[in-house]
Amino acid sequence: MELDKNLIKFDKDLFKDKNIKAKDENFDKLMFIYSSGIKELEVKINNMKEQFKYFYNYNLISNVTSRIKKPNSIIKKMKKKNYELTYQEMIEKINDVAGIRIVCPLKQDIFIVKEMVKSFPNCEIIKEKDYITKPKKSGYSSYHLIVEVPVNIGQNIFPVKVEIQICTMAMDFWSNLEHEVKYKPTKKLSNKVSKELVTCAQLVNKLDDKMMKIYNT
Ligand code: GTP
Ligand code: MG
Repeated sequence: MELDKNLIKFDKDLFKDKNIKAKDENFDKLMFIYSSGIKELEVKINNMKEQFKYFYNYNLISNVTSRIKKPNSIIKKMKKKNYELTYQEMIEKINDVAGIRIVCPLKQDIFIVKEMVKSFPNCEIIKEKDYITKPKKSGYSSYHLIVEVPVNIGQNIFPVKVEIQICTMAMDFWSNLEHEVKYKPTKKLSNKVSKELVTCAQLVNKLDDKMMKIYNT
């Protein structure tokens, strides 16, 4: 069948040492595969959200968002890390082409969610980073899982990596604002602002702890 031949060609093309081009048909197809991986995981995550509401009358998750990294940002990151600009290198080394953020009301929910994600069938955990217990120097706090899910394209299976970030509403608020301030094209982040952001992150952490205490009393 004609369709299958095209799929096989696509498969071989991708894994040849072909150079990445932002405006390339293969790039588009690959991004489509990544978005399929996101969709499959989002179904599972939203089911988990609904289940907790239905069975336990508990709001475990406030909202789920996702994004695919823009081609130019992928290429920029690969150049910065001195990676060879091939599709193979991108698939193997760039873990955040596909990203999902799960936002929870309380800090304690994060640990329930990450355990649930780790128990998803056909979902391999590649990496795990706990910036909740130990926030980054910037103040950034979130729980990260790099997972790999299989996406079927015809008879081929593509393992797709997805970065899942799990955080509270307050952490989400902080990281969105910090990201915006940090990447403002006009000027570099001053020392003063960086320090203020770390102070804000500490306030966010205190707020999260207080809210959890209030909920648990
Ligand atoms: P890359 O950053 O993807 O090269 O890999 P890494 O191993 O350094 O991962 P890390 O856990 O540091 O960051 C992964 C993602 O977390 C980033 O792409 C951001 O979305 C988010 N992140 C990490 N640090 C910060 C931070 O200081 N501020 C904000 N706003 N987001 C951050
Ligand atoms: Mg980083």
